[in-house]
Amino acid sequence: NRYCIIMAGGVGSRFWPISRRSTPKQFLDILGTGKSFIRHTYERFARIIPPENFLVVTNNSYKEQVLRHIPEIGERQVLGEPVGRNTAPCIAYAAWRLKTVNPDATMIVTPADHLILNEDEFRRAIVEAAEFAENRRAMMTIGIRPNRPDTGYGYIQVDNRSETDGSPIFKVKTFTEKPNLELARTFVESGEFFWNSGIFIWKTETILENFSAFLPDLQQTFGSIGAYYNTPQEQQHIERIYPECRNVSIDFGVMEKAHDVYVRCSDFGWSDIGTWGSLYQHSPKDEKGNVESRFCMLYDTEGCIVKTDTDKLTVIEGLKDYIVVDHKDVLMICPKANEQNIKKFIDDTKFKI
Ligand code: GDD
Ligand code: MG
Repeated sequence: NRYCIIMAGGVGSRFWPISRRSTPKQFLDILGTGKSFIRHTYERFARIIPPENFLVVTNNSYKEQVLRHIPEIGERQVLGEPVGRNTAPCIAYAAWRLKTVNPDATMIVTPADHLILNEDEFRRAIVEAAEFAENRRAMMTIGIRPNRPDTGYGYIQVDNRSETDGSPIFKVKTFTEKPNLELARTFVESGEFFWNSGIFIWKTETILENFSAFLPDLQQTFGSIGAYYNTPQEQQHIERIYPECRNVSIDFGVMEKAHDVYVRCSDFGWSDIGTWGSLYQHSPKDEKGNVESRFCMLYDTEGCIVKTDTDKLTVIEGLKDYIVVDHKDVLMICPKANEQNIKKFIDDTKFKI
């Protein structure tokens, strides 16, 4: 009864210019492992979930790419969205589909684009969390010990005294999505907080109860899809209702408000490789601390990440802590410290590139 729901509709803009609207991060092999992020995600869960129990929710325009990266699944297992409305509608869509096909399902909801180093520990955490979600009808998250006050994550405060079944599972006291820097610092220093890894586990009926309590509009919108299941009008119906949905993440929309939330605290070498800076941190470096591609000559250059996919020779002298990316029709040169400006660069191209 366990299903894996892969959320793969993000546009991954922080890895521009390698990640583009047409081929976002989940379909790329940014770490040079030989497999895309979404392929790694599938293989990781395929050890515990049969192929027919996967659902991938993604934009209509990425459906074909999903099937190319995961040929083990059928077309009906890829749920296409006409527009991105963030993770709450994505999860509501999958939950209502599952309610129709298997009312007793457990959903393991995962992002498509994370790095996980210790897969044995990862599986242990997922299975324990699933058992807990099934026995207690709880909303489960997977928590990671934070090592910096990153404002891009959800912060989970645990109740250390909460009684569980002998595993590192705690009742969640508070859930704060993307706090400001000051708050994030306080959280990390207190030692009581974990990062939300973005992986959620719950029974379908549990999340549907929470939708009806906290996002009743979504509950109402998606409640209608069961009637169209497997009919010729099904996709048309989705195209009609999706644009009406609010843009809201599951974190702001449900997790911050829900009551019966528990966290399985884990340490399986997790990173969401969310930015060029985090790719830099996770990549092998030369003696000057540079991460470089094949055809590069670097002089008096330190702490840089240089990514080129051409066979053009790149020669650099005198750069410190920069990102240099030469990809197809774009060359970007930007200080590592300013990588948040990439969103602005994309805006300024008017999404033409
Ligand atoms: N299908 C679909 N539709 N998928 C989406 C959409 C959408 O509209 N928007 C985002 N996704 C997918 C992304 O592709 C990604 O795999 C996942 O959902 C999470 O979305 P992000 O946009 O990457 O979320 P985030 O990184 O800002 O925050 C979330 O993840 C953090 C950990 O990486 C939150 O859950 C945080 O609390 C968490 O700490
Ligand atoms: Mg993310």
